[in-house]
Amino acid sequence: MARSFDVVVIGAGPAGYVAAIRAAQLGLNTACIEKWRTPEGEYALGGTCLNVGCIPSKALLESSENYERALHRLGVHGVSVTGVSFDLKAMLARKNQIVRKMTGGIAGLFRKNRIAWLQGHARLASGGTTWKLEVEGEKGSETIEAKHVVIATGSRARHLDGIEVDNRIVCDNEGALDFDSVPRRLGVIGAGVIGLELGSVWRRLGAEVRLLEALPEFLGAADESIAQEAWKVFTRPGALEIELGVKVGAISRDKRGVTVAYQTADGKAAKLACDRLIVSIGRVPNTEGLGAENVGLRIDAKGFIEVDKNCRTSLPRVFAVGDVVRGPMLAHKGEDEGVMVAEIIAGQHGHVNYDAIPWVMYTMPEIAWVGKTEQQLKAEGVAYRSGRFPFAYNGRALGRDESEGFIKMLADAQTDRILGVHAIGSLASELISEAVVAIEFGASSEDIARICHAHPSMSEVMREAALAVDKRSLNG
Ligand code: FAD
Ligand code: NAI
Repeated sequence: MARSFDVVVIGAGPAGYVAAIRAAQLGLNTACIEKWRTPEGEYALGGTCLNVGCIPSKALLESSENYERALHRLGVHGVSVTGVSFDLKAMLARKNQIVRKMTGGIAGLFRKNRIAWLQGHARLASGGTTWKLEVEGEKGSETIEAKHVVIATGSRARHLDGIEVDNRIVCDNEGALDFDSVPRRLGVIGAGVIGLELGSVWRRLGAEVRLLEALPEFLGAADESIAQEAWKVFTRPGALEIELGVKVGAISRDKRGVTVAYQTADGKAAKLACDRLIVSIGRVPNTEGLGAENVGLRIDAKGFIEVDKNCRTSLPRVFAVGDVVRGPMLAHKGEDEGVMVAEIIAGQHGHVNYDAIPWVMYTMPEIAWVGKTEQQLKAEGVAYRSGRFPFAYNGRALGRDESEGFIKMLADAQTDRILGVHAIGSLASELISEAVVAIEFGASSEDIARICHAHPSMSEVMREAALAVDKRSLNG
């Protein structure tokens, strides 16, 4: 007889594994099907995020930042270091060890919560009072039954037509996290989040990095003031070289590397020759081979599974969460959707506040925001007040020699309710949490201005930005 579960989750990335854990916590008999294999051929949990995304990229960002700091930024503290060098093999091994620790941790959480981990590729086979799924694993295939299904199959890198990604010379995120040597000239197509984060890693380690971006504006999703500041810092002499408004043409490979032919913003023909190329032009949802056609699961024109605000699909008792559905492709957005659907399945009232999802880019300085940008408020005709405060006036930032950037707060002109907070600066990824809490609780800028913030701390800049909304910063 087929094994039967209350909930079967397809995919164990952050959206899927969190959905499975929450479902199990709520007493539901839960299985999670995952097909991911490590380069050594072992099945692994954690999806893109843990294996080839958030976690390994942040490990390399930290290592490369430490190297650059030792090389250039300790002198100001009176600390002299000579003979600074790095061991790329050790750096990559450290990253891989963190990945193993995290993915192994999820396997432990599955055991603790008695979640059955089914290893292999899942396909929806048929529906009825229960859903039937086929799991194609190493040891053959098995059909299982589920009362509820949560699809969390994630996304994969979008590739360019006409150039094969071999993840050695032409790479997506997978190869770009694993170069066996630092390229002398690194080309990047797409100056989005991956291009800037991974471009920064390899630049810090010595590569000359050039990014080609199709859009005429830089970081179009960010607040304009943040994008302007980021452009100034990221494109300083010796930093990243970014060309906007280009049209990428033929890409050819030869013994020396890769040549990208492109048209510049003013229509001139140009070439980018590099030793390695990263293609980071966005990601596409994974729905191939899922059996959507067997059960009539609706998929939209861009390949995302259609869902409502509670992540219900077109089929009864079938939900979809994470990168495979609309919304930002962010791990924490997927996790929150995973919790929401598990709670709904268990008869509770799960929900996600899509207006309070933070965005973070782990560059240096970091960029983080939550809520609306100034250009969005203008477009929507919302009357707002804006307050801005620089890290340069903050004692802790100066002490850390990390005083670039600012925090900007946008609040409703009538009610003072915080509508958006935008930060560029060291530790912006951590500082933004206060703004997320504020937006979630419907706080006003005055609320933040009246809250005691530890001194000296970078968080005082958040308070000063709130005070600046009312034109009464104390220290600037
Ligand atoms: P995924 O993590 O993609 O997991 C989906 C899983 O489903 C995979 O393991 C896949 O093997 C499995 N699967 C697919 N189809 C099937 C099937 N038919 N049967 C069985 N299993 C299947 N986000 C952040 O929030 N912060 C960051 O710092 C960040 N950094 C990133 C850095 C990089 C380089 C990349 C590429 C992404 C980064 N992201 C980051 C995005 C983040 O990784 C994704 O938003 C997140 O992983 C999505 O989670 P998910 O569970 O929806 O999908
Ligand atoms: P992205 O959407 O951030 O950036 C892709 C860029 O490529 C865009 O600026 C786009 O205009 C450009 N582009 C598209 N086609 C192009 C072409 N043909 N030629 C030149 N430029 C082109 O996507 P990216 O960087 O691939 O990352 C994918 C997703 O992964 C992100 O959107 C994000 O959701 C997630 N991610 C999140 C991170 C974080 O939260 N810190 C870090 C890395 C990735």
